[in-house]
Amino acid sequence: MSKPNPHIVILTGAGISAESGLGTFRDVGGLWSRYDWRDLATPEGFARDPGFVLAFYNWRRERVRAARPNPAHVALARLQRHWRGGVTLITQNVDDLHEEAGSEDVIHMHGTHLRALCAACGHRWPAPETMAASDPCPACARPATRPDVVWFGETPYHMDRIGRALTGAGLFVSIGTSGTVYPAAGFAAAARQAGARTCELNLEPSENAGHFDEARHGPASRVVPDWVASLLD
Ligand code: APR
Repeated sequence: MSKPNPHIVILTGAGISAESGLGTFRDVGGLWSRYDWRDLATPEGFARDPGFVLAFYNWRRERVRAARPNPAHVALARLQRHWRGGVTLITQNVDDLHEEAGSEDVIHMHGTHLRALCAACGHRWPAPETMAASDPCPACARPATRPDVVWFGETPYHMDRIGRALTGAGLFVSIGTSGTVYPAAGFAAAARQAGARTCELNLEPSENAGHFDEARHGPASRVVPDWVASLLD
């Protein structure tokens, strides 16, 4: 009897959406080379100047809404449809390009641009076109609206489910992430520890390239479809 197809756990980062026109964070010209993450991606920065933070996320949300999936997103949706061992897709990205490409059950560990969160009562609702700090929460009516994204110092979402997926993975694949932000940066080592093979698909070797058994370097829009074809065709 042939070996069963391993369960594949995939982690994506900003690099998979780079060719869709959405900036990355740490490349040359990346967002954190132009803005200070302490002002825009921490609860303290939001408390200091909620208007500035919300204006940044309004701008990012507009860019996300205008962006379209690229062949890398499409290839992962194809893999999810056809891989018999099952695929768990985890993303650090807060865009919805995986879903727009047809992926389902995407685990957004850093939240999503497309939802608003009430900082007072925890209620979540679809993000409006533009978000203002004075927007009343639809549930508690208090003016405590923020983007439903995970900032530095906050706990990423779905970590229990992610931990279970990593221990059950036969193959862990990291795509378009610099491997610098934990806990995501620790997933490759955790999966390997649990017996998975590990593969990195990235423009260039990431910070934790040493945790991967295999690597394919190049733009995601070419490397990811080629990798999926090598599995399915
Ligand atoms: N194809 C493939 N990889 C690419 C491409 C591309 N076209 N362009 C860039 N990359 C790679 C870069 O080489 C880099 O390794 O994508 C990675 C992007 O790294 P970061 O900018 O650090 O983005 P990411 O790893 O997703 O950041 C993690 O940091 O600021 C927080 O919450 C934010 O989720 C984000 C987290």
